[in-house]
Amino acid sequence: MTAAPEPLLVATDLRKAYGPTPALDGAELTVRAGEVVAVMGPSGSGKSTLLHCLAGIVTPDSGDVRYRGQQMSLMSDGERSALRRTDFGFVFQFGQLVPELTCLENVAMPLRLAGRRRKDAEALAATWLERLEVTDLAGKRPGEVSGGQGQRVAVARALVGAPRVVFADEPTGALDSLNGERVMRLLTDAAHDTGAAVVLVTHEPRVAAYSDREIVVRDGKSRDMERAA
Ligand SMILES: Nc1ncnc2c1ncn2[C@@H]1O[C@H](COP(=O)(O)OP(=O)(O)OP(=O)(O)O)[C@@H](O)[C@H]1O
Ligand SMILES: [Mg+2]
Repeated sequence: MTAAPEPLLVATDLRKAYGPTPALDGAELTVRAGEVVAVMGPSGSGKSTLLHCLAGIVTPDSGDVRYRGQQMSLMSDGERSALRRTDFGFVFQFGQLVPELTCLENVAMPLRLAGRRRKDAEALAATWLERLEVTDLAGKRPGEVSGGQGQRVAVARALVGAPRVVFADEPTGALDSLNGERVMRLLTDAAHDTGAAVVLVTHEPRVAAYSDREIVVRDGKSRDMERAA
């Protein structure tokens, strides 16, 4: 019998309050290599806070996040930001591309930050633009492309560095359903091909349908729908 693979990310009993408001109140989540986990729940329930804790952007008041067995709260700020550069990719609701850079330069940026030479970085970035079906946007700036096109560029940027985990917070929230579904299909296909896990925050059941597993967050508490079923 082979042992189940060690989970990539394990969050246990996370608590985080902003003043008197508890944003997380005992949330838990496990992410295994290569799986797409949808985090659902009403507005204000703590989904983004959970994602930020998992990614080491927000430090919980108590509880524990382990990434590949390492407790993130024991890492220095520098170690956590290095981890975000090397192991994690991010897609947010509004792309958050750098407006002064072309789409190609935006996608190449994570590689440039990791020390890759411009020529190599841009060659690899071009293959990701092609994969996301936006090759023709390479020389355009984010202000010159549509919302759906910009999100495809953002997905390319999130995946170009071969991350182990992609964190996506409402990646299709600003798109119509047709473009949203195209972005989700491209994101999940690329993640499955590269073996990246995806933590996907969404309100929309249609978007969550692209996941392998669903977690529901309510009042800062999480519930694994598979285990509950
Ligand atoms: N930086 C912050 N400062 C103060 N309160 C915050 C902050 N971030 C989140 N909160 C509060 O924590 C709670 C959870 O917020 P969070 O953003 O995690 O919810 P969410 O589920 O992502 O909501 P939405 O679906 O609207 O994005 C809310 O009550 C919110 O107002
Ligand atoms: Mg949110």
